[in-house]
Formats: sequence, structure tokens, C-alpha cells
Amino acid sequence: MSAQPFVPPPYPYDRLDALAKHAAAHDGGVIDLSIGTPCDPPTPAVVAALSSSNSERGYPPSIGSEPLRSAARDWMQRRFGIDVALSQIAACVGSKEFVATAPQYMKLRRPDRDTVLFPAVSYPTYEMGAILAGCRPVAVPMNAAGGLDLAAISAADAARALMLWVNSPSNPTGALDDLSAAATWGRTHGVTVFSDECYVEFTWQRAGESILQHGLDGVVALHSLSKRSNLAGVRVAFYAGDKDVVTYLKEVRKHVGMMVPGPAQAAGVVALNDDAHVAAQREVYAKRLRRTAEILSKWSGVAVPQPAGGFYLWFDARDGWQFAEKLAREGGALVSPGDFYGAGGANNVRVAVVQPDAKIEMLAKRLGV
Ligand SMILES: Cc1ncc(COP(=O)(O)O)c(C=O)c1O
Repeated sequence: MSAQPFVPPPYPYDRLDALAKHAAAHDGGVIDLSIGTPCDPPTPAVVAALSSSNSERGYPPSIGSEPLRSAARDWMQRRFGIDVALSQIAACVGSKEFVATAPQYMKLRRPDRDTVLFPAVSYPTYEMGAILAGCRPVAVPMNAAGGLDLAAISAADAARALMLWVNSPSNPTGALDDLSAAATWGRTHGVTVFSDECYVEFTWQRAGESILQHGLDGVVALHSLSKRSNLAGVRVAFYAGDKDVVTYLKEVRKHVGMMVPGPAQAAGVVALNDDAHVAAQREVYAKRLRRTAEILSKWSGVAVPQPAGGFYLWFDARDGWQFAEKLAREGGALVSPGDFYGAGGANNVRVAVVQPDAKIEMLAKRLGV
């Protein structure tokens, strides 16, 4: 049987176009709570660094400049109390490209394995990265706490697995996973665990954690400045952990020409070296999460719990698309139906609290609550 040609599926957010038309009919326009794109400004020092690094004319180092990797190392030391050698840290062009491309490189390294394991309710790029690599994407069921049900992974899938993705705090659920258990599972089965920690600065029930706190061998942590420092447009992220895996990926990515632009690297240094703006942003999200939940539950009668981490509300609305459409018509707001994150999320809705407070209050007014 010949292989089928790859046809990219509709991009999840493009599926909201029909709802956007209803929302746009409101005076004041759409209140977009769908994509998790930050709306608050980065700090002025970070923006200034973008135009003063004098790094435009030469090629930037693919692995990340020494100052960028040092800033990443220092942040991990301050934030998690871990020591990671500079040689075990490297830059990526935001974390999405890393999520989408790591499986193809990992497969070349271990041609005997063909399976990518990822959380059943999760950021869609874990599955897409597997598909783009020609790998078998296998969704790992979620346990009652919203983490990976590692015991549900069959022996056959474990034996074929190239990598396991874990994401804590989770997009979309906000759940905090057991990273120690994920690291142990990976070491037991000889499967590299990739831990996407891009929301780690925003946790509400316990301190943010890195998988690297449970040892560096066999694990790679992925961090991004997009959410932490409101820099999604600048594209700075990094990965760190297992010596062999990081060295391998660094080398491959040099050949591919994956490079964070020099001015962006310079801005990343300033952002990583400052924690005060993150503390302030945390307060902003905490307040917005509470207020938006209050508005939506008053209007709909549906319980809207606070997440354990992240900046998304995730709740059972019985039918995610129906709720999203009603909210677009009556409140002019766009939210993400839960099936964007896997079939298991179909009853749910994800609301990103990424609009300024005035827009959130505009929503309350439109909904009459
Ligand atoms: C879980 C998760 N990982 C990775 C990303 C990608 O972020 P970026 O590419 O901006 O670093 C996102 C963005 O929404 C995300 O939710």
C-alpha cells in the first residue's frame, strides 16, 4: 500500500472564523479569549535591548549566545535551585517550533523507535510534531488529577516510544503533573521525557516545578519567554537537560539553521535576568482569572473553577462548541472549544484571560452580569 500524501488539517483557531463573525457584530468588536497570546506589555528595558544590541549584521549562534545561556542557567538556579551546565542549555525559536520538530530529529537518532507519547488532553502541537515526523502519535489517558496516567501506557507502546511529552502547568487544563513520576517512568523504559514548562511561572496551588529538579539524565525541560515575559512576538525559548540529547539536538539544529535573531537573544537576556515583572504579571493573571470566572459562571450557571496553574479557565460546559457559539453571540467573546485539545475535551471550554481588564468588564456589561 502506498503512503497517503500529507494534507495539513485546518489550523484549530481558523475553525473559529464562523463564531468570530457573530462576535464582531457587537459594538466594540470581538473580545478574543481564544489564543493564549499575551496582551500586557513587556518591560521597557527588554524592548530597549531589541534595538541596542548591535547584533544585526552577523549570524547569531544557533545554540544561543553565551549571555543568553548564562541568563537561562542563572534563572533555573534562582527559580528551581538547580545547577545546569551551559553546555546542557540551548536556544530555540520559541517553544512551538521545538515541540513540532523534535520528534523528527529524535527519530533519526533512534530509528528503531517510532512512537511519540503525549497527554490525551493537551496542546495540539505534541501530536502534530509526531505526525510531521512520520511517527505514531499515541495519546496517554489523563488520571483523575489531570496528570498523565502513566500506568495506562501499554508495554508495547512503551517499547516503541521515542519520547514522552509532559506539560505542567497544562494547557488547557491548568493541572500540575507529577514530574518526578514522569522522569522515573522515562528512565525505567529508556524513553526521553520532554517536559514543556512554558507556564511554570504561573502556578496558583503550589510552587512551579521543573522536571530537572528530579535529575538531568533522560529528561529535557522546555522553557519560553513568550508567556513569562510577554514576548511571544520576539520568539525566545530554550531547552535544557540530558547531556547527550541536548548535545545531539544542538548539533542537528545548527545544520538546520534554527537561530533566534541576535536582537531577540539580547532582549531575552534582559528578560531572564529580571523577576520583578513576572511577579507583577502573576498578580494581573490571578485577578483576571477570578473576575472572568465570576462573570462566566454568573451568566451561564456553569461552575467555572480556578486552575491550579496557567492563565486559562477550563470547565465543563456540556458542549464546548455550543457554549462558545452562545458566548460569541451574546457576549461577543471568542473562546476555544475543548475539542481543540483532544476528543476528551469536547464538553469543555478554554478561556484565555489575555484581554485587558477594561475588555473583561465590557464582556460583563454585554452579558448583563
Ligand atoms: C503548552 C504550550 N507549549 C508551547 C507553546 C508555544 O509557545 P511559544 O512558541 O511562543 O514559546 C504554547 C503556546 O501557547 C503552549 O501553550
